Formats: sequence, structure tokens, C-alpha cells
Amino acid sequence: MAKAKVGVLISGRGSNMAALLYAAKHPSCPYEIVLVAANDPQAAGLTLATAEGVPTFAHSHKGMKRAEFDRIIDAQLRAAGAEYVALAGYMRLLSPEFVAGWENRMLNIHPSLLPKYKGLDTHQKALDAGDSHAGCSVHVVTSELDDGPVLAQTEVAILPGDTADSLAARILIAEHQLYSRTLADFVTRERQPEWLLARVRERALALPQADEVTSHGMPCFGIEKGKKFAYFSQDHHGDGIVSVLVKTTAPEEQAMLIDSDPDRYYRPAYFGDGWVGIRLDLGDTDWDQIEDRLRKSWREVAPRKLLGLMDVADEF
Ligand code: GAR
Repeated sequence: MAKAKVGVLISGRGSNMAALLYAAKHPSCPYEIVLVAANDPQAAGLTLATAEGVPTFAHSHKGMKRAEFDRIIDAQLRAAGAEYVALAGYMRLLSPEFVAGWENRMLNIHPSLLPKYKGLDTHQKALDAGDSHAGCSVHVVTSELDDGPVLAQTEVAILPGDTADSLAARILIAEHQLYSRTLADFVTRERQPEWLLARVRERALALPQADEVTSHGMPCFGIEKGKKFAYFSQDHHGDGIVSVLVKTTAPEEQAMLIDSDPDRYYRPAYFGDGWVGIRLDLGDTDWDQIEDRLRKSWREVAPRKLLGLMDVADEF
């Protein structure tokens, strides 16, 4: 499987970047670092990345508008072929445009157990609060600072006599362990059957009177007490693929879809011409399109009364 391409943004020391980079050297690591970029040309991490043969880019943000600076970084990331961005001690607020351009593709590591202690001085805040544990979190980046869904956390016990520095040093060890594992899981989740099934389920069950049963060992979505409109197929008859099977709207449509994208669409064995298989394990699934196909498939089997309700709802 091709490795996911990750761009790492740093502002200084870059020890988390180094942890990501060293982890990426293991052959089984599902990502590779394609660029290390910094908003400070003096960032120490740049020297390390260069020595390891990773392309670097540095540009001072001083005197530049935030969005203007972010556009430069964005262009570098895209030119390097990055599919994901990992913020590793990147101490800059990001423009909304930049965040939107990497929606669900950008992670950050933060030295606290979020949602506690966003921003700076996290270690002192944990000590001042008398917490028994501090720690670190990896989260998906959204437009709010240190916000966004937390993917993983490590708790680190606070020791008697800990200072902000001694605590930070121990949490940093935990950060180095956590970031690479979480990033590896994140870049592979779009190929994991459980994650894919959850995406299909969410969309299928949002349709009127839809329910889920198991049929022929497959999670299957239908209209309550009615016909089925989608099957989630995982290694069915040992085909080794993950896909969703939906009804086509006309007999020629199956052939047309397969013709248009033969890597993605296929004729599902035992289902006949009225169905088409859509692979979900290619890593570039267009979920709006899957939603649309599920909806079309639902329409194929929905009783007339329900269709009428759907048409009325569609008008709003
Ligand atoms: C790390 O502790 C990281 O969690 C923190 O900055 C340090 C960077 O160290 N990041 C934040 O506080 C982000 N809000 P590093 O440059 O050695 O990775």
C-alpha cells in the first residue's frame, strides 16, 4: 500500500517532528514525511530534517499578513505532494482558509489533556490546579485554537516536587510515543472496514425509515419491513475488498459506471445487473457521491408514499 504523504510544520526545536520522522523510517510505517516547513528560518528542527534527507522550507512570517503567509506554506505543502499536515510545535495561529483547505487532514499535538488547558503554559496550569495527572493530546485541527476532535491522549502522573520544566520533559517523552501512532492510525483509518462501515451506516440510516440487518453475513440497509437498498461488503467470498453495493437506476447504468471508473465500480457477484459495487478502500472515496448513490438506491426500493414525502422534503 502506498504510504500517505505528510508535511510537518514546526517553529523551533522540532523534537516531535523528529519522532514522526524516525518512526517513518520503519518499513511498516504507513506514512512518509515529504516536507518539514518552519515559520522561523532558525528553527533547530530544520537542520535535523535536512540531515535526514527530508526536504525543508523556511520563511519568516514577520511583517506578513496571516492569510498571505499561510498561502505560501500551503503552496509548499501541495507542491511537495502532502496529503496530510502534522503540526509539531507550530506556534502560529492559522488562517481560516488554511484550516479549511486541510479539513480533516491536519493534526496537532498539544501538551495537556484537552479540553483542559488550551493555549500556552499548560504544564504550570496543571500544577497550579493541583491535578494528579497532566498529559498530551493529539487532535484534528479546526478553526478554534487547540480544539477539534481528540484522537488520542496519554496521561502522565505529576510527581511530588515537579516543576513546569520537569513535567514538560516527561510529557514530551509521552508526546513522542503518542504522535506517530496516532498519525499512523489516522492515515490508515480511511481504509479500515470499521471506519468505512460507520460512514456508510451514518448515511444509510439517515434516509427515511431505513434500518439495518445482517444478511448473508453482511451489514445490510433496507426500508423497515421492506426491500434492501445497500449492502456493506468486506472481503466477500474472499475478494479482499471493502465496498458498498447499491441499486442502479437503469440496467445500462451498471455498465456505464464500470466503464467510467473500472478501478472503483464493479459488477457484484450473485447480485445481477441491477446492482453496482463501489469500492471504499481506495483511499480517495468521495463521500458526497456515496451519499448520493445511497439516496438513489433508496429511491429505487422506496414505496410510493415514502417517495412522495422525500420529494416534498427535497423541495426545502
Ligand atoms: C511540544 O511540547 C508541543 O506539544 C507543544 O510545543 C512543544 C514543541 O516541542 N505544542 C503546543 O503547545 C501547541 N499548542 P518540539 O518542537 O520539540 O516538538
